[in-house]
Amino acid sequence: MILVDTHAHLDFTHFDGDREEIIERARNNGVIYIVNVGSDLESSRNSLELAEEYPFIYAAVGVHPHDADKLDDTVLKELEELAVRQKVLAIGEIGLDYYYDNSPRDIQKEAFQNQLKLAEKTGLPFIIHNREADEDILAILKDNYTGNGGIMHCFGSGLKMAWECLELGLYLAFGGVITFKNAEELRGIVKEIPLERILLETDCPYLTPVPFRGRRNEPGYLRYIAEKIAEIRGLHPEELAEITTANAARAYNLPVEVQYQYQKRGSLK
Ligand code: NI
Repeated sequence: MILVDTHAHLDFTHFDGDREEIIERARNNGVIYIVNVGSDLESSRNSLELAEEYPFIYAAVGVHPHDADKLDDTVLKELEELAVRQKVLAIGEIGLDYYYDNSPRDIQKEAFQNQLKLAEKTGLPFIIHNREADEDILAILKDNYTGNGGIMHCFGSGLKMAWECLELGLYLAFGGVITFKNAEELRGIVKEIPLERILLETDCPYLTPVPFRGRRNEPGYLRYIAEKIAEIRGLHPEELAEITTANAARAYNLPVEVQYQYQKRGSLK
């Protein structure tokens, strides 16, 4: 099985004791690329550092809505310097979180808009974190639409929102939640949306899929998410893996040879 973990946080301290083993285990479980996503300036720097150490790891840089109040002009300028580096594929994660409201909403919105502008300026796609903020996410996206594409990370809204995002050309990424017992609505959405817009992610160390729910998550568990989505779609897991890997290559403009390799293979065995 060939997989891309489109959203991981391997720079987090949760992995300090065994990061190398975790990365090795990801490779042994079919993960050919990992996109490590920043949540503030420091983790954006650390993501890039990790990406520069491992050829199959790439980075996204950005400030999470939880830390929106830390995004001043200096931080924004530093993000821009990071964003032009070769191993940086996207701006993220950015967005709005009205569940925790760790930063005031007007400040979250401003940070979101400023980072969407950064995506436009740097020609990179964006990665969106959305929690209970569908309406404002859509309004801001429509006003600031960059044309570089983007990803709705850990999609958890309803079917209507899914179609709105698809209409904007976005990809929807799904992780461990899809394996949870109470995720019937989400499985219904995965069943209905175009396969070509589905991405797989772990969001590790969080949201560990069944059968490891409750433990620390890692990219090596991505196969359980692939297997669940394959089951929902009535596909062989290998087939689902191949399609979502091609999707990830398109969404993130992953290196041309890989993109070519997966798109060229017309037949899905
Ligand atoms: Ni995340």
